[in-house]
Amino acid sequence: MELQEIVSRYRDDLQRVEDNLDSYYRSYIKLIPEVTDYIINSGGKRLRPLLLMITSDLCGFTGDRRYTLAAVMEFLHTASLLHDDVIDHAETRRGKTAANNIWGNSASVLVGDFLYSQAFKLIVEDGDRDIQILLTSAAITMVEGETAQLTRCGDITITEDDYLKIIEDKTAILISASCALGALLAKSSEQSIDALKRFGMKLGIAFQVTDDTLDYVADEDEFGKAIGMDLKEGKITLPLIRTLHQCAPDEKALIHKTFQGGQLDGDSVRNITALIEKYDGIDYALDRAKGFIEDAKTSLESYTDSFPRQALVTISDYIVRRRL
Ligand code: IPE
Ligand code: IPE
Ligand code: MG
Ligand code: MG
Repeated sequence: MELQEIVSRYRDDLQRVEDNLDSYYRSYIKLIPEVTDYIINSGGKRLRPLLLMITSDLCGFTGDRRYTLAAVMEFLHTASLLHDDVIDHAETRRGKTAANNIWGNSASVLVGDFLYSQAFKLIVEDGDRDIQILLTSAAITMVEGETAQLTRCGDITITEDDYLKIIEDKTAILISASCALGALLAKSSEQSIDALKRFGMKLGIAFQVTDDTLDYVADEDEFGKAIGMDLKEGKITLPLIRTLHQCAPDEKALIHKTFQGGQLDGDSVRNITALIEKYDGIDYALDRAKGFIEDAKTSLESYTDSFPRQALVTISDYIVRRRL
């Protein structure tokens, strides 16, 4: 199945989600819709809403609540991006100047707060207690992940397991919740809810591992974000963790020394990138991502063959091949 077939099949549904999104960020304070409009309509992939549409289809739910909840997922995601770009001192996002770089950090923090609050209001209005617990817990976990990452900034003792836990919390949990929502909306069995949760979690881990490789090797125009930012910010991701594990003691000492000096300059970034190349850190990380994708697919085995099931498989394979 081609990605294009999936987009065509869910085009009308995703348009309903867009209409919902646009109707939920009105405010009498002009700056709020101004900044929100800028980031919401800047070309996000809408991965989380799409996964919700597909898993609803898979589990047989066709009600309108899925459109509202898909907007909620995109709001939670967008709020986390606004805050993340402040934390990461991002200059670009989705191929455009990052909001913090136009309106400043304070505006990004506040508009992110508005979007989180709006999402929670919509979750309460939806009224399903299981969904309320799932999504508010996911939001808490995301903050824990970003905070854990902050505390490990420049820390070369970080292990692969520490890293995987961080990305599970900061990224995969929201993707997992997007998938589980389809089953929750359809009032599917506990097993079905758990299977989609597990599927989304593995998919989300692979998604962030891939993002972390793209931060080293992407084409900036295609990726829409500046590359080399993680290293500059002291964020030690899988390609470098692998390199630290494989390299010689003097090379490790050099990396350690580099991180002790605070923000990395161009030469330091080039030196570390060369070591990652020498030890195949990117290929190693991509192989791990592929492993998580294969694992994700096994969670779909209990579903009978259908368009939505095939769509989830196709998206899984796309996750590790993507360039944006
Ligand atoms: C970006 O997520 C943040 C990460 C979890 C890596 P996406 O790559 O889904 O961002 P958009 O919405 O498509 O811009
Ligand atoms: C994902 O991490 C951020 C969130 C989960 C909000 P990154 O910091 O790698 O995401 P990008 O690269 O800025 O999109
Ligand atoms: Mg970031
Ligand atoms: Mg990134």
